[in-house]
Amino acid sequence: MNDSLEALRGEVLEHIQKSDSEKELEELRVGVLGRSGKVTLLLRGLKDLPAEERPRAGEQLNQLRRLVEERIDTRLVAIKEQSRERALKEEQIDITLPGTRWERGRTHPLTLVIDEIVDVFLAMGFEIARGPDIEDDYYNFEALNIPKDHPARDMQDTFFVSNGRLLRTHTSPVQIRTMERRKPPLQVIVPGAVYRHDDDATHSPMFHQVEGFMVDDRIALSDLKGVLSHFLRQIFSQETGVRFRPSFFPFTEPSAEIDIQCLICGGESSAARQTCRVCKGSGWLEIMGAGMIDPHVFKFVRYDPEKVSGFAFGMGVERIAMLKYGIDDIRLFFQNDLRFLRQFG
Ligand code: PHE
Repeated sequence: MNDSLEALRGEVLEHIQKSDSEKELEELRVGVLGRSGKVTLLLRGLKDLPAEERPRAGEQLNQLRRLVEERIDTRLVAIKEQSRERALKEEQIDITLPGTRWERGRTHPLTLVIDEIVDVFLAMGFEIARGPDIEDDYYNFEALNIPKDHPARDMQDTFFVSNGRLLRTHTSPVQIRTMERRKPPLQVIVPGAVYRHDDDATHSPMFHQVEGFMVDDRIALSDLKGVLSHFLRQIFSQETGVRFRPSFFPFTEPSAEIDIQCLICGGESSAARQTCRVCKGSGWLEIMGAGMIDPHVFKFVRYDPEKVSGFAFGMGVERIAMLKYGIDDIRLFFQNDLRFLRQFG
C-alpha cells in the first residue's frame, strides 16, 4: 500500500505540474478526487484493510487528498495568471499604426456666401425668417400684387405641383407670411431656395435668394439706398460703385434694379469694358431688385399704407457667388465635383 501510494502521489503531482489548462486540471481532479477517483476508491477500500492498519492508511490518504487539492488550486492560479499575461500581450494595440484618415468636409461656396450676406444684415439689426418651398398661388403671386393673368407672371416660369400648389419662384412670399403674423417695426431677411423653369450656364432650376424688408412708420427710399449701398460695399469692396436704376416689380413702387460696377473689367471707366463678356460692355452688373413696398401689398396683410411704409429687396445668391469667385457656370455649384468644392472654405 505504501509503495503504491508513493507512486500515485508522485504521478499525480507531476501531472498537476505539467497541466496547462483549467480543463485539464479539472479532469485530473475528477480522476483523483471525484466519485470514482483513484484516491476516493482507495479511501473506500480502507474497510478491507486489517483494523490496525486502517488509521495510518486513512491518515496518509487524507493527507494525499489535501495535498492534491492544494496543488491543483495553486496550479490553477498560475495558469490563470499565465493566460492573462498572454492575452494582454496578444491584444496589445499598436498605437503607432497609421489610422483611417477622415476627409475633412468644407462649407459649400453657396453656404459661405449666404452666411456672409446674412452676417452683414444681422449686424444692421435684421433678423432671419423662413418660409415653405412649396407655396400656393396666394403667397407667391396674389398677395404680392400679381393677379391671375397678369403679364408679370411671365417673368417667372413657375413649376406647378398638384392641388394648385407650386414651388416658390422667389422668397418674396415670406414678406407676406411674416407681415400677416406680426406688426411693424420689422427688419427681416429671408435666405432660401427658389425654383424656376430655366436651365443654362447662368440659370439653374433651383437657386437661392436672400430677400429682405424693413417696415416701420417712416421708412423712405433713402433708407433703402443707405442699407443696400452699405451691404454691397461690405460684400464686394468699399470702392465698388453702386447704381440704382428705375425698374418694375408688381409688389414695389417705385422699384429699382441695383447694379454694381463690373468686377471683371473694372467698370464704366475701364478700357477693358469694351470687350468684357460678363457685363457685355456696359461696365455694370445687375445684382438685385428692390423698391418701396406697394400699398396694395400692405392691404393684403391689413397694414394701413397711410401709417406704415417700407422697402424690400431680393438678390440671387448664385450670381453674387459667381461674381465674387469668378465662376462662369452656375451648374458647378450643384454637380458636387470635389475638385471644385475643395477650393472654398
Ligand atoms: N422677388 C423679386 C425677384 O425674384 C426680387 C425683389 C424682391 C424685387 C423684393 C423687389 C423687392 O425677382
